Amino acid sequence: MALLPILCYPDPRLHTVAKPVQAVDARVKKLIGEMLETMYDADGIGLAATQVDVHERLVVIDVSAGRNTPLVLINPEITWASDEKQVNDEGCLSVPGIYDGVERSSAIKVTALDGEGQSRVIEAEGMLAVCIQHEMDHLLGKVFVEYLSPLKRNRIKTKMLKARRDTERA
Ligand code: NI
Repeated sequence: MALLPILCYPDPRLHTVAKPVQAVDARVKKLIGEMLETMYDADGIGLAATQVDVHERLVVIDVSAGRNTPLVLINPEITWASDEKQVNDEGCLSVPGIYDGVERSSAIKVTALDGEGQSRVIEAEGMLAVCIQHEMDHLLGKVFVEYLSPLKRNRIKTKMLKARRDTERA
């Protein structure tokens, strides 16, 4: 197992639209293991394959307090979303240090394959619903800062690029 490098906004590769996973085979299972390890190491609650530069429809999530309840969603599709919306502060491993409010459906139903390739239906609300919607956006090439005003987004972009330059110089 190995930690995978996480792409940072505004890396253009974060805007790639992911393709469906063709088969839950050894390659995909290895990727799931590495994505989980990377997510836990970075103290995140979710990671989409897009963020590690693999453009296939796969996300890993763990919103549990004990950090011991991984959820793997392969080829996820939202089949129902509540009309009721709520605004939650979101963050993202690809936009470190930035947290801001995004409005999303309060509850959703999702179909997906799990890490063993078994078909599953997940009903989610609260933080899990937010996290699934956030991660599924990544698969469409969308980063949460794109919901913010252009002014805020540009400020974040500038901050991220400066942070990258500082790292490269160090
Ligand atoms: Ni994210």
